Amino acid sequence: MAQNILAFETSCDETSAAVLSVGDKRRLASLVILSQDIHRIFGGVVPELASRAHLQTIGDVAEQALAEAGISQNGVNAVAVTAGPGLVGALLVGVMFGKTMALSLDVPLIGVHHLEGHLFAPTLEQPEFAPPFVALLVSGGHTLLLEVPAWGDYRLLGSTRDDAAGEAFDKVATLLGLGYPGGAAIERLAQSGKAGRYNFPRPLLKELDREGPDRYAFSFSGLKTAVLRAVRASRDLEAERADMARGFQDAMVEVLAAKTADAAVNLGYSRVMLGGGVACNQALVERVRSMLSGDATVAVASNRLNTDNAAMIAAAGAWHLSRGESSGWDLEPKADLPFPGLTIPAALTGAPR
Ligand code: KG4
Ligand code: ZN
Repeated sequence: MAQNILAFETSCDETSAAVLSVGDKRRLASLVILSQDIHRIFGGVVPELASRAHLQTIGDVAEQALAEAGISQNGVNAVAVTAGPGLVGALLVGVMFGKTMALSLDVPLIGVHHLEGHLFAPTLEQPEFAPPFVALLVSGGHTLLLEVPAWGDYRLLGSTRDDAAGEAFDKVATLLGLGYPGGAAIERLAQSGKAGRYNFPRPLLKELDREGPDRYAFSFSGLKTAVLRAVRASRDLEAERADMARGFQDAMVEVLAAKTADAAVNLGYSRVMLGGGVACNQALVERVRSMLSGDATVAVASNRLNTDNAAMIAAAGAWHLSRGESSGWDLEPKADLPFPGLTIPAALTGAPR
C-alpha cells in the first residue's frame, strides 16, 4: 500500500506543504507554495516578518496540500520537515507544526536538511535519477560543489568563500534596480544585453589549473564590487543595464559551469545535477551541458521544484524513512544544521557556505 508523506518547508520566505505518495511508484500528490511578498518592500528577507507570515499561513497551506492530494489527516503516514539550515524563527514554525501533526496522528517524524532536499528535487520528475553524480547546489544561501557516489554519501569539493551564488545575483539585481529577489530578472534582462561589452572578472577560475584547495572554491564578492564600480562609472545606467546584466551573468555562469564540468570529468562522473534557485538559470544549464561530452547527462528539476518547496523535503524524507530512520520528539531546528553524511576534506577547512 502506498504511504503518504506530508512535508513542510519553512526555512526562508516560502511556506510550503506537499504530499508525496510512496509505493511501487512515487507520485507527487500535491504541492502548495506560498511565497511571502512582504520582503520585496525591504529588499531582502526580514526574519521576524518571515516567521509571522509562516505562522499565519501554515495551517491553510497544510489543509490545501491535503485537499489537493485528496486525503484527510488520517491518510498521512509520516511527516517530513526542514530542520535547517535557514532562519531559525522560520524553521521553528514548520518544525513545531510538523511535530504536532506527527504526534497527534501517531506517525513517524523526520527532520530533513534543506540542501539534501535540493539534491533530491530531480527525482520527483525523473524517477530514474540517482547517484553517482556531481552536484552543484546554488541557492540564495549556499554554493556547494559535491561528489555524490550514493545517497547519504556527500563529499565536499568546494564552496564559496563569501557570497552565495544566488546572493550575488540578488545583490547585483539591486544595484541594477531590478528589485528583490533578482536572479530571474537578471536572466531576463541579460537576454537583450551584449556579450563582451562588460568583461567582469571570473573569480578563482584560474585555480582550476592547480591542485590546491581552491580548485573548486568560489568567491563572488569581488565580482559584485566590479559591477558596483561599473554602475557608478556609468553615464547612462538605463541604457547599459542589460549589457551589465549580461556581463555579470556570463562571468557567474562561466565560473560555476567550468568548475562543475571539470569536477565531473576529473573524477570520472557521467552524471551532473544542478539544484537550488540559481539552477533555474537556463544560461547556466546550457553552459554546463555544452562543456560536457555527449554521453554525460545533466539533471535539473523544473523551476518550481528548484526553488524552495516541500516536495523535495518529502523526497529526501522518504529516503531516510525507507532506511528506518526517523527523528525524536526532541527535534529542534538549527540555523546551521550540519549536512548529514557530508565529508569535508582536511584541506577544505571551515563550515561550507
Ligand atoms: O533555493 P532557493 O529558492 O532559496 C534558497 O534556499 O536560498 O534560491 C533562491 C535564489 C535567489 O537568490 C534567486 O535570485 C535565485 O535563486 N534565482 C536565480 C534564478 N531564479 C532564482 N538566479 C539566477 N537565475 C535565475 N533564473
Ligand atoms: Zn533552498
